[in-house]
Amino acid sequence: MKAPLRVAVTGAAGQIGYSLLFRIASGAMFGPDQPVILQLIEAPVEKVMKALEGVAMELDDCAFPLLKGIVQTSDASVGFKDANWCLLIGAKPRGPGMERADLLKDNGKIFIEQGRIIDAVAAADARIAVVGNPANTNCMIAASQAKRLPAERFTAMVRLDQNRAQTQLAKKAGADLTAVKNIFIYGNHSPTMFPAYAHATIGGKPAAEVINDTAWLQGPFCETVGKRGAAIIAARGLSSAASAANALVDHVRSLVTPGAIHSVAVKSNGHYGFDALVWAGMPVRTTTPGSYEVITGYAMDDFAKSKLATTNKELMEERAFVADMIN
Ligand code: NAD
Ligand code: LMR
Repeated sequence: MKAPLRVAVTGAAGQIGYSLLFRIASGAMFGPDQPVILQLIEAPVEKVMKALEGVAMELDDCAFPLLKGIVQTSDASVGFKDANWCLLIGAKPRGPGMERADLLKDNGKIFIEQGRIIDAVAAADARIAVVGNPANTNCMIAASQAKRLPAERFTAMVRLDQNRAQTQLAKKAGADLTAVKNIFIYGNHSPTMFPAYAHATIGGKPAAEVINDTAWLQGPFCETVGKRGAAIIAARGLSSAASAANALVDHVRSLVTPGAIHSVAVKSNGHYGFDALVWAGMPVRTTTPGSYEVITGYAMDDFAKSKLATTNKELMEERAFVADMIN
């Protein structure tokens, strides 16, 4: 039996938390032979901590063989202690009519504090995945507080966008979802993100050739993927939760699976023309569990270049907006 992994989850009593925790405990995230200890962190609010207690009771009631312990706390230094994975979900979601960047001042403060505490108390091999919006910039903010953990350990989730793009391409082509490969998300988890359809394949052929509709690829496809979160809020009255939790399972599962190729928002280091200091979605290949290399070779045409420039500009604006927090 492997030693248990300590998995810290913030916002554990929230919508995404409720869809996520049971899948982590069942083995969907780290595999069927990997025990876990869940370290659940919530806001120090009586009602919320009570709800967290209920979630922990339900986890107990599932009798998951891989679940070796549950910590419930509103103290981040307890919750992140020795954590191997820190899943940062706890943050305000946006409501109708808001952009994710509107959350920056409120949510940014959470990530300053959590970045500092994770750096102080998490395990030496800690990996951090940020979901709370605006995810890219919150991830950058958390990483800015780290002196011990390298910036590459901090990733933000654009996997939901990749999954959305994959489904849209499959539907348009009338193909099975599994036939769609190599669709990667570049840039911000916001309407400016770019799903780079030119590198995607469907059944082994270029997606653009199979779909044969450049106007759709450049227009409705990019728009549907970029604005899907808002469409869900408009329909449900609440932001996506089960699909977000599912995407986080995919994000982490791919990051612990050597050879997996997938979209992750990482410190750009200047790849694909992004400002070196922003966290931008791009394709990565997992090397060893928890580590990855950016796949840098994809050529971009003029349309793609202009989309990359737009999403980079937005990321730089978000960075400028929180400059006083991170300096
Ligand atoms: P929610 O309001 O249902 O839950 C958020 C939880 O976080 C609440 O229980 C709240 O008490 C808790 N929380 C707040 N501050 C905290 C803190 N400092 N420490 C610990 N917990 C804290 O929201 P949700 O629907 O679960 O969404 C959470 C976040 O995820 C939102 O910012 C949302 O916009 C974002 N999101 C991102 C993606 C993505 O693809 N990146 C997808 C969906 C949602
Ligand atoms: C999503 O993409 O569904 C989430 O980021 C929630 C939102 O605010 O759109």
